[in-house]
Amino acid sequence: MRKKPKILIVDDEKPLRDTLARWLSPSYDCITAPDAASALEIVKSTPDLSLLISDIKMPGEDGITLVRKAKEANGSIACMLLTAYGTVDLAVEAMKDGADDFFQKPVTDLSAFEMRVAKAVKTVTLEKENAELKARLNTELEDFTGRSPAMMRIYGLIRKVAPTNATVLVEGPSGTGKELVARALHNLSPRAGGPFVAVECAALSKELLESELFGYEAGAFTGANTRGRIGNIEAANGGTLFLDEIGEIDQEMQVKLLRVLESRTIRRVGGNEDIAVDFRLVAATNKNLASLVKAGKFREDLYYRLNVIDIRTPALSSHKEDIAPLVARFLKEFSAANGGSVTGIEPRALKALEDYSWPGNVRQLRNVMEKMVILASGAKLTEADLPVEITDEPPDDAAEASPTAASSSGVADGSARREGDETLAEAEKRQILAAIAAAGGNKTKAADALGISRRTLHRKINEWKAG
Ligand SMILES: Nc1ncnc2c1ncn2[C@@H]1O[C@H](COP(=O)(O)OP(=O)(O)OP(=O)(O)O)[C@@H](O)[C@H]1O
Ligand SMILES: [Mg+2]
Repeated sequence: MRKKPKILIVDDEKPLRDTLARWLSPSYDCITAPDAASALEIVKSTPDLSLLISDIKMPGEDGITLVRKAKEANGSIACMLLTAYGTVDLAVEAMKDGADDFFQKPVTDLSAFEMRVAKAVKTVTLEKENAELKARLNTELEDFTGRSPAMMRIYGLIRKVAPTNATVLVEGPSGTGKELVARALHNLSPRAGGPFVAVECAALSKELLESELFGYEAGAFTGANTRGRIGNIEAANGGTLFLDEIGEIDQEMQVKLLRVLESRTIRRVGGNEDIAVDFRLVAATNKNLASLVKAGKFREDLYYRLNVIDIRTPALSSHKEDIAPLVARFLKEFSAANGGSVTGIEPRALKALEDYSWPGNVRQLRNVMEKMVILASGAKLTEADLPVEITDEPPDDAAEASPTAASSSGVADGSARREGDETLAEAEKRQILAAIAAAGGNKTKAADALGISRRTLHRKINEWKAG
């Protein structure tokens, strides 16, 4: 059974407070007090008090002062004043000071009084519930660090969308936590007990991707396992299917995927039976799918099927206030994994990390912290421990000061231009070029600094050449 809301009734006339308490006791847990001083003690020691009902004129402190002090002690209780003839003006004045309502004495109309009490209690209860809900929605999700408005928005979206079956498209630059978002959507959903199956679409050839996703029947193709195999979609039955780098799949696979999403059935390669599968789809991409659609490279119908809910993970440079807490988290994590000898970071070193542009986003920050902790010379990370890509980055101001130099093409263009009207692809290109420049042209080092694979780096470069 639900607990009865608590009400404190304060009046110097014992018969009156007892009568009110008796009237209200069927629905409320009533406490009484004869004066303001003892009432305030009760307020302070009863955090779940919902409503204070007080007479105005009492020996000692009056009801108006009591209301003010009670609100100071507990901002979430409602206060109602009882006014005798001649104190109505005072009560009105008190409402400006924090009282929520007043009722005229003598209380003769019981049902009217009860209604006003119920209303006051309901308001408080709703406010409390709202505050609790908000607090729950706004806390960080366990695997995420950062309380910037940008990240809070993501947590809010995840919490709202996770319990549903809606298909989600996670869009954002490399290393911004897209997979983390996908896993959180799964973990906070009713499917959490089921499987989470991740498929890296870009890593597989066309044929492999098809048999990975759909599975195959025995003897479906030369070399096919004699017993056949279930695919990733079937494996995700009862759980979540995560298709990473969805922008990389070719037109033929796009059609097949669209069919799966429409029918919620699959057919294994070489099979002739439609198998119903219950899965929730989360897709991720670091490309701008809308522009791929415009360019005719991605089917519009599939795009709309995927993009029911769109979650965009922000570049780290757009929420720099999260860098310090991320540094603290990774420092702790990697220090623990490496004997615990590194205990902190000097303010100047932290400042340098905060000022850096982080083209590889959180993944790059994580990699840098791992490297710094492993190579650290003392208990505290100092500027001397910073990797070259951070110490060698030209400051933003210098870049702004020479806009003409920045507009010339080539590597110099990389770090010099500021974000603003550039597209995601342009920003990515700029960051990658900057990293290559910082690594002295060494692409392996640049890829490492960016937190991406060398393959991905080469693929990007080839794309620019092709485009
Ligand atoms: N907000 C965050 N708090 C803590 N760790 C994070 C956060 N965002 C990302 N990470 C960590 O950064 C790394 C990269 O995240 P993730 O793999 O989810 O990025 P991604 O967007 O999928 O990258 P890519 O496009 O390169 O696949 C992971 O180790 C992840 O745990
Ligand atoms: Mg990823």
